Amino acid sequence: MAVFTHIVYLISAIFFIIGLKYLGSPKTARKGNLLSMLGMLIAIVVTLLDKQILDFTYIIAGLIVGAAIGAYAARTVEMTAMPQMVALFNGFGGAASALVAYSEYIRAGATMSIDISITLVLSLLIGVVTFVGSVVAYAKLQGLITGAPVTFPGQKFANGVLVVAALILGGLFVYDPSVETFLLVIIGLATILGITFVIPIGGADMPVVISLLNSYSGLAAAMTGFVLSNNVLIISGALVGASGIILTKIMCKAMNRSLANVLFGAVGTDGGGGSGAKRDKLEVTQYTAEDAAVVFEGAQSVIIVPGYGLAVAQAQHVLHELTQLLMKKGIQVRYAIHPVAGRMPGHMNVLLAEANVPYDMLYEMDQINDEFQNTDVALVIGANDVINPAARSQKDSPLYGMPILNADKARTIMIIKRSLSPGFAGVDNDLFYDPKTMMLFGDAKDMLTELVKEVKEL
Ligand code: TAP
Repeated sequence: MAVFTHIVYLISAIFFIIGLKYLGSPKTARKGNLLSMLGMLIAIVVTLLDKQILDFTYIIAGLIVGAAIGAYAARTVEMTAMPQMVALFNGFGGAASALVAYSEYIRAGATMSIDISITLVLSLLIGVVTFVGSVVAYAKLQGLITGAPVTFPGQKFANGVLVVAALILGGLFVYDPSVETFLLVIIGLATILGITFVIPIGGADMPVVISLLNSYSGLAAAMTGFVLSNNVLIISGALVGASGIILTKIMCKAMNRSLANVLFGAVGTDGGGGSGAKRDKLEVTQYTAEDAAVVFEGAQSVIIVPGYGLAVAQAQHVLHELTQLLMKKGIQVRYAIHPVAGRMPGHMNVLLAEANVPYDMLYEMDQINDEFQNTDVALVIGANDVINPAARSQKDSPLYGMPILNADKARTIMIIKRSLSPGFAGVDNDLFYDPKTMMLFGDAKDMLTELVKEVKEL
């Protein structure tokens, strides 16, 4: 049985790795998800059969309840609430690792070897920080607590003291595993650390933190794998840990921020809002859907730039309807996807996939940026920071250095948004005042619906 189990574990690990590879592109992501799920399923089944851990009644009851809650949550979650759902998933992963590790301590008691007690301490520490940090991230994004950074003097120092104290206690526990109190105090310290680690981070930076916590949940699982001597848990935990940290790095790079700046910079508000433009001297020209339709009549090529506002307005379906109408009129239509458009990785891809936009119409920034200069219309919907030219030239701007989509190079720029309010970064956008720009003020769904009506009448 042991050999068979290890062979099945190996097969699951291969499924996870191929699954991850497929998750790298929207075209193959569904297949990747399916393969990874299959890998996890066979790993769970073979573990249960091999270990005969508990009475199967409990396990089946747990499976039914868990699957029902998971299926309900996945079906009903709003697309804009996806980051907080992922936060909860990570948190439960961390909690599960910590609980399993602790139950192993209850089972094995003080007889555990040094390597097991070290990984037990790490599993508890990382697992509890992940759980509590994820719950705080969820609460921030769900608006249950303030999304603004909560800071206090000496915060970093206090966090450092908490980490050091937990590690010292961990060392004492490894020295004498019969003292359970060490573990209980570590759990207490990790709970405080989970809170103080996440509260100073602005609500809109939460996706980066969630990705980091995802990585932590993988580390906690890998540590628990060592505690249980379970290879598939070690491998899957390591894969989650590594891919989470890679994603965190990609997100930081695309936002032109360092991880330290995200974690300790206390940047950002609740996201999306802002103070409004303070450009009294500059003129903004407001246009109607009818004006826009007239421009489309003379256009041959359009590049659509979707952003966070598209997700807020849930306008992806009506946008797809508009693109189909334009294409019927012989206009070439493409979508330009900025890596950090929206509020979570792949946000725009997922949103557009929901409206059945074909993948081959989506272009990444590097693929399409040179095309804007030969394009008649850049149609920007609820995007702001990802097209802000300040990122190229204004050294004092928080956006400076972030690669942007060259929407300003198109012959005409149409921007649909409700006001002149800034986006996530909280800075004004000169593109709104460009003479080539047509501002179409309104909710994205309402404006696109009007636009569809006008284009149909052409
Ligand atoms: P933003 O710069 O945040 O701009 C979104 C714009 O959408 C706002 O200016 C808002 O203007 C408009 N909007 C909101 N609701 C709308 C509605 N119902 N209808 C029409 N417009 C609406 O978005 P972006 O260009 O997608 O850039 C993303 C930003 O988020 C970047 O700064 C990025 O660094 C940051 N960020 C991204 C991620 C990931 S991984 N994607 C994670 C964290 C942070 P009005 O209020 O005037 O309508």
